[in-house]
Amino acid sequence: MRILFLTHAFNSLSQRLHVELRAMGHEVSVEFDINDAVALEAVGLHRPDLIIAPFLKRAIPESIWRNHVCLVVHPGIRGDRGPSSLDWAILKDERHWGVTVLQANGEMDAGDIWASVKFEMRETAKGSLYRNEVTEAAVEAVMLAVERFQAGDYQPQTLEQVCTTQRGGWQPLVRQTDRAIDWQRDTTAEVLRKIRSGDGVPGVLDELFKRQFYLYDAWPETTLRGKPGEPIARCGPAICRASVDGAVWIGHLREREGEHPFKLPATHLLAQKVADLPEIEADADSGYREIWYEEVEGVGLLHFPFYNGAMGTAQCEALLAALRDAKRRDTRAIVLMGGPDYWSNGMHLNMIEAASSAADESWRNINAIDDLAREIIQTENHLTVAALQGNAGAGGVFLARAADEVWARRGVILNPHYKDMGNLFGSEYWTYLLPRYSGDESATQIVESRLPIGADEAKALNLIDKVIDEPDAGFVSAVRQLATSMIRTPAFTERLLYKNARRQADEAIKPLARYREEELEQMKRNFYGFDPSYHVARYNFVYKVPKSRTPLTLANHRWTKVVRRVS
Ligand code: COA
Repeated sequence: MRILFLTHAFNSLSQRLHVELRAMGHEVSVEFDINDAVALEAVGLHRPDLIIAPFLKRAIPESIWRNHVCLVVHPGIRGDRGPSSLDWAILKDERHWGVTVLQANGEMDAGDIWASVKFEMRETAKGSLYRNEVTEAAVEAVMLAVERFQAGDYQPQTLEQVCTTQRGGWQPLVRQTDRAIDWQRDTTAEVLRKIRSGDGVPGVLDELFKRQFYLYDAWPETTLRGKPGEPIARCGPAICRASVDGAVWIGHLREREGEHPFKLPATHLLAQKVADLPEIEADADSGYREIWYEEVEGVGLLHFPFYNGAMGTAQCEALLAALRDAKRRDTRAIVLMGGPDYWSNGMHLNMIEAASSAADESWRNINAIDDLAREIIQTENHLTVAALQGNAGAGGVFLARAADEVWARRGVILNPHYKDMGNLFGSEYWTYLLPRYSGDESATQIVESRLPIGADEAKALNLIDKVIDEPDAGFVSAVRQLATSMIRTPAFTERLLYKNARRQADEAIKPLARYREEELEQMKRNFYGFDPSYHVARYNFVYKVPKSRTPLTLANHRWTKVVRRVS
């Protein structure tokens, strides 16, 4: 079928659906919901059999839904309506929630229901639920709805049919007052629910040191105690605030006004204010853990769930030190686990934006990430594995490819390209790694197409080596098991010898240092040259400036218009 996505942004859920529907053989084109005229033009150009709205913030124009079936993906159970479904589900401590695919009509979320899939809630941030449980349920529900639409004889359920038997109903937009924290009364569990209901967007507005911040990235502290509301400790990027019955770590803040009104690590924003707080070393029981190491039967596993997958200079340096420690252990394999939401999204663009010289900080950050990539490539006594529980983008994909093997969870999405960030050339030794694993032709195609890639396609392109069909915690135990069996195979020592011989042969043809030098020469132009595209694109990304048009890499229907104009 010809399917048109009408979407506010090409977010992770839209990317995943794009991948899944294309894999089913559908012709999918994307238009950002900029205004009614643009949406109408897109419908006229693409002539879709079906319109899908994976992530929409306003109503579809009547002239579109009256003439086309438009299926809206709503992150709520059957009968639930309104713009803050997931936020309310967390605030109300629902045990189960769901995703419903309904047909657009004149009333918000009140159209006929084509499919609905439930999931079990997890105690985590809204963004994490969205990227995992909601996305998986949405894929299932959309596939079902598309199948039913194609069958031609399916009668969707009306809202009236649903509401008599099941819960749900209209829920208004969550306001700041609905999730405001009362530090003198709220328990740790309540504080966590409130912060997590607004994480990643919009955050819970609160006051710290007489400044107004939105709070994100909240985790419980099990041992520290203090006066409710008071900051009592710091650990890595996070500060700890006491609650009435415990304490909470807050990793990231966004200042409401001020010089840098975007998300930054809490201790970075409050550097002087928290300097006197006791600094805690994180361990399994206490503190905020950004990087940790575990060992299972000869395999070292390095976890690094950096918030939003962004890797700043200091984080790369800390991870490099942890990797070097892991390499000194008497183990045979090292698995780079990333985090449950992201493996890595490359350089930390917010930290770069906040630096006094964005160009200098970009340079420091890319060198720090390159040092890490080189350390992975030059691992001689261990086999290295990058295990992708969550998505990876830009430099994060190539950093993963620096490992000897890349294993990915089936639902993972990769964005192995840099050009959307103002034609950034990219580094992380991608000019060595991509042709080596994927071949010259695929390498060019991957970098130029600028499209998200699913796990199966990534495997076909040798961007990854193994697809693991296990969700969440199941994925981590599957990785542990696979890694421990990998080092026990009789061929293990031979493999190690072979990889070192191959590395030496590659080095003789062209040293790693030369790849890096050439890549960084281009990056220098991006950072310091006369063309400001990278700085403009980064500013727009960090400040979330709405897109004014859909990139042609996504809006296939606009190609015909361009071709017509040219001819
Ligand atoms: N630095 C800082 N923040 C980043 C980031 C980065 N490299 N990559 C993603 N984020 C943040 C986003 O700003 C967003 O923040 P929010 O929680 O305030 O909304 C959050 O992570 C999720 O990102 P989003 O873009 O909504 O996720 P997605 O899954 O829809 O898209 C990418 C994934 C990778 C395509 C997209 O995030 C991206 O292009 N990131 C930049 C990659 C890059 O150019 N890195 C630098 C070159 S190495």
